[in-house]
Amino acid sequence: MSEFKVFVTRQLPPTSLERLAQHCDLEVWDDFLPPEYEIVLGKVGELDGLLCLLTDQIDAALMDAGSNLKVISNMAVGFDNIDIPAASQRRIPVGNTPGVLTQTTADFAFALLMAAARRIAEGQRYVQNGHWLTWHPTVLSGQDVYGATLGIIGCGRIGAAVMCRAQGFDMRILVNSLETEEEVRQLGGEKVSLDELLAASDFVSLHVPLTDETHHLISERELAKMKPTAILINTARGSVLDPKALYAALKDGQILAAALDVTDPEPIPADDPLLALDNCLIVPHIASASVATRAKMAEMAVDNLIAGLRGERLPTCVNPEIYEQS
Ligand code: GLV
Repeated sequence: MSEFKVFVTRQLPPTSLERLAQHCDLEVWDDFLPPEYEIVLGKVGELDGLLCLLTDQIDAALMDAGSNLKVISNMAVGFDNIDIPAASQRRIPVGNTPGVLTQTTADFAFALLMAAARRIAEGQRYVQNGHWLTWHPTVLSGQDVYGATLGIIGCGRIGAAVMCRAQGFDMRILVNSLETEEEVRQLGGEKVSLDELLAASDFVSLHVPLTDETHHLISERELAKMKPTAILINTARGSVLDPKALYAALKDGQILAAALDVTDPEPIPADDPLLALDNCLIVPHIASASVATRAKMAEMAVDNLIAGLRGERLPTCVNPEIYEQS
């Protein structure tokens, strides 16, 4: 235990917390649900370090209230819950957990693609509801994955890992991303415009971070460009997709189906109309949720936090420019 005071906004795997406790005076939020913003705000004044999750909103006001805050460590690869420019202005390093969740998340994106294509969740409901009376030539017919065209929007680590899986299914892969044509080609894809991708893909999978530019990247106009047989997969962030436009497109048969690991808002309210659609598969933001990967994410978040307390460069820092400032 040292003089550093740290707050962790949820229970993490015990080995990670035990390691962290050796470096600081540790308080861990014990509830299943996240602490309210005001609770974190009330504590931050005496904190040296904050280890938070993507469910915690960390804004400039909270940073201002934390005059001793030396580090913010987010246990997630995404960091749209944190005002990064505000952290950089205050020279607070922010850590995230890239890399360790890439393959697990790509597995899950592909699992959603397969599940939506072959109507697996609908099939389970059909059996559970006692509708399975016979083998039938047309019941629950889905879409083929093998040999189909996959559109990847955003070709960072996770998008590229989804492309690897798609190659095993002999898919044609179209990519819309910031990478060069050559980089995309090396990964086995063809770089195309967003509109070309939407018009030609049987499956469209979203892998961009949420920013001002990607907010509602897929809305009415984009959905209207897609094939009526197309399936949309979102494992990025809920508001990359406009939920009202998605509902209309699914209801009117403008696209065939969607599979969402992420929604806007999260959690999705129980009376959200998307939940009433058979052609919309929704799961609760679990793409990185394997036991091993979540343990690695916790370890990385702890590594970042400890480095920040010691005044060392964070191993994975999302605002490294703070180290260049004089
Ligand atoms: C999960 O969505 C993450 O950003 O790690």
